[in-house]
Amino acid sequence: MCGIVGYIGKNNALPILMDGLKRLEYRGYDSAGVAVKTDQGVFAVKAVGKIVELEKKITPLTPPLSGGSNLGIAHTRWATHGAPSEVNAHPHCDCQRKIWLAHNGIIENYQELKALLIKKGHKFVSETDTEVVAHLLEDLYDGNLTNTLIKALRLLKGAYGLVIFHAAEPTKLLAAKCGSPLVIGLTEDGTIVASDVSAIIRYTKQVIYLDDNEVAEISGHDFKIYNLQSETVAKQAKTIDWDIEASEKAGFPHFMLKEIFDQPNSLANSLRGRIILSDGKVKLGGLDIVAEKVRAIEKLVIAACGTARHAGLIGEYMIEEYAGLSTEVDYASEFRYRQPVLDKKTALLVISQSGETADTLAAVQEAKGKGLLTLGIVNVVGSSIARATDAGVYNHIGPEISVASTKAFTSQAAILALLTVMLGRQRQMSLVMGERICRELLALPEKMREILKTSEQIKKIAEKYSKFAHFAYLGRKYNQPLAFEGALKLKEISYLHAEGFASGEMKHGPIAMIDGNFPVVMIAPQDSVYEKNYSNMQELKARGAKIIAITTAGNEKIKEAADDVIYIPKTLEMLTPILAAMPLQLFAYHLAALSGRDVDKPRNLAKSVTVE
Ligand code: G6P
Repeated sequence: MCGIVGYIGKNNALPILMDGLKRLEYRGYDSAGVAVKTDQGVFAVKAVGKIVELEKKITPLTPPLSGGSNLGIAHTRWATHGAPSEVNAHPHCDCQRKIWLAHNGIIENYQELKALLIKKGHKFVSETDTEVVAHLLEDLYDGNLTNTLIKALRLLKGAYGLVIFHAAEPTKLLAAKCGSPLVIGLTEDGTIVASDVSAIIRYTKQVIYLDDNEVAEISGHDFKIYNLQSETVAKQAKTIDWDIEASEKAGFPHFMLKEIFDQPNSLANSLRGRIILSDGKVKLGGLDIVAEKVRAIEKLVIAACGTARHAGLIGEYMIEEYAGLSTEVDYASEFRYRQPVLDKKTALLVISQSGETADTLAAVQEAKGKGLLTLGIVNVVGSSIARATDAGVYNHIGPEISVASTKAFTSQAAILALLTVMLGRQRQMSLVMGERICRELLALPEKMREILKTSEQIKKIAEKYSKFAHFAYLGRKYNQPLAFEGALKLKEISYLHAEGFASGEMKHGPIAMIDGNFPVVMIAPQDSVYEKNYSNMQELKARGAKIIAITTAGNEKIKEAADDVIYIPKTLEMLTPILAAMPLQLFAYHLAALSGRDVDKPRNLAKSVTVE
């Protein structure tokens, strides 16, 4: 996830672009850049770090900027391909430095296109997927950038929000969207295009939302919108009723809720370009260089902290059941102290959203010292863990801002499912099974949308239980780690006492605590262990427990044992935790928000813990 902004109009573009970048900084902030058309040609500057670093490099009062500019684009980057560096920062340009563009998204087929363009003599300078679009436009250019862009877009696969200009057509700013958001703000004096309204709202509340496969050709305050068949599309402007503060959160009261609601998109981004359905296989580009070593491993140790570790526990079940590879999960903070028995046929897999967690990094160093292959599932490109591991898979979900991890968790579990298919297909998994898991993974985003519709119902349940001080979370098999994760979410943001247990463990001690004042959240989808979970619920009911059950849509019978029921759509058993996590996130969120907690920044916690 990156932030893009473009301007064309009567006013000076640079201050509008810089202000827009600052408003979009929350979308990513490892590097930034701006390109404006001036009387003396295109002025472009890029910097690593936050927007202030870019600002330091711009002197608006000296030429070429002193003459002002009526056209420009800017970008704040969240790296997906290539480390955060000046060359990789946007805007990118063609060989002649005339076509400039900023991009948000992932071009899936960039390697094929790049190889083709290199053969034709194009010179690439960055490692990004984005640069290919600039060279492709140069290659296809027919004197009209709009027509050329439409032709080029037909060749692209993947997701994009693009803003583009050509120095030879300075009365035109183009925008194109597929998968990544873009909104056009209409003012008296000009037009602003941005990734979201936070970059626009200071200037206007009149906006047009571009839809997928649409191209906007903007000249001052006139605009035309085309589809990819070059037909014009009529669009109505809408009036936004948010203020500046709410706009960064897309109208949500907290980043956590926004991130929960972002999951259908973020999960799709994690899967994008990684599934070859017809072969029942996955393509994890970051693991290509170690594919043969991975084939030879006989044991996998997963180390991580907090929520990432809970995802790892789900991975353990997946990998052992479907790939037949012995897997164990450690607290990263314990890995170096407990003297694990490791040999060269063991690989360490670490999972970390931030890529900076000191305990997790220490586990990588420990394993490296012992000569093990080290792999990572990391969200932040170029982070310490991403650099320290031998190879890995990025989550591609954009920055997670709320301290309590939500979209990173579901993405981590989905990537572990992809890894299961990779490991499985290298071993005993059949094509049919590989295809089945992949097909079910691809269906998850739509099912996540269904769950989000229950947010208001979950809020009412949270209200009902808001006076209780203790909660138990129970799950079995794939959903046992989710019991820990559900409890962790509630602890983190509500400060209430919550504990996760394996359902079968209750009778071995914890059930002694249970009475009418200790509600139980039971994660019980209709899977291979449902009957056992149902018996556990009845045992709890008999002790006066109040039960909130999460189960599969259509399961009416569970109402005989549960006080409140939240439904999730059916999926493959190994993928149920990815769906069941969402009601747990929403329950914790609503309960904490109702109690007036600082949901995004809970007391005593930090997003990235860089001390051991
Ligand atoms: C901190 C956060 C947790 C997070 C854990 C691991 O403790 O508060 O929410 O799960 O770190 O973070 P990582 O960035 O390594 O995934």
